[in-house]
Amino acid sequence: MNIKGAVAFVTGANRGLGLAFAEELLNRGATKVYAGVRNPDTLDLPGVVPVAVDVNDADSVRAAAERCGDVTLLVNNAGIVAVTPQGALDPTYTDASRAVFETNYYGTVRMSQAFVPVISGSGGGAIINVLSDATWFAPSFVAAYAASKSAVWGYTNALRTDVRDQAIQVLGLHVGMLDTDMTRGIDAKKSDPRDVVAVTLDGLENGDEEVLADHKAQEVKSTLSSARPFYFDPVFAD
Ligand SMILES: NC(=O)c1ccc[n+]([C@@H]2O[C@H](COP(=O)([O-])OP(=O)(O)OC[C@H]3O[C@@H](n4cnc5c(N)ncnc54)[C@H](OP(=O)(O)O)[C@@H]3O)[C@@H](O)[C@H]2O)c1
Repeated sequence: MNIKGAVAFVTGANRGLGLAFAEELLNRGATKVYAGVRNPDTLDLPGVVPVAVDVNDADSVRAAAERCGDVTLLVNNAGIVAVTPQGALDPTYTDASRAVFETNYYGTVRMSQAFVPVISGSGGGAIINVLSDATWFAPSFVAAYAASKSAVWGYTNALRTDVRDQAIQVLGLHVGMLDTDMTRGIDAKKSDPRDVVAVTLDGLENGDEEVLADHKAQEVKSTLSSARPFYFDPVFAD
């Protein structure tokens, strides 16, 4: 898909990776970038069109799709993390899972279902789903988050094949630690969100359906068919 001339909608565009997507889409000549944010007052990016949306709220997602009827590229970026100090046995695991699935999984499903008819009606385009290297392994302290990303990967794989005949390219972005609010206080090597966005949009323009945006995502995926895949003995940070 060509970014020049595209009309994009980015969820969670007020900070972190979403802000980097919105900025770079403008730099690359997108005709319009809708910044989907829970609170438009938190948005400080000239050139974008703010749209109030909470991906947890079906009515708000529906209203956004009705308002933004010219979208050709959806970036499902909005996401949250929940910390489960005792991993899979954490007493809060069920509640943590419900919270992260509501946003990361169901939010992506809601947005995709609302915007596929819009993109299709615009003549086709693309959807980028922001996943993680944790799609393929479960760091104990964010085990519920990892499960939600595995689930969105499954949805992404179904969506990709189900909308191909509507000329919609679905790209799954897998990446390790990013230098954003989500990882504040974690001492680890982190990628610059702007670098990740650059690689992802290059891949989108190249027709790619999956982008492994950093070394960690590439390494983890490369072990999946080995006898002892990375997820057997995961190392969270390196
Ligand atoms: N940081 C990492 O290491 C990392 C690694 C791999 C993948 N990711 C993924 O990258 C994406 C962006 O994360 P980030 O690192 O940029 O995190 P971030 O800095 O914490 O930003 C999260 C964004 O999502 C928005 N959001 C959360 N819940 C929402 C909802 N219900 N409706 C609408 N917007 C909502 C937030 O809006 P508010 O400002 O209103 O809270 C914020 O704009 C997420 O999907 C995350 O899982 C992150």
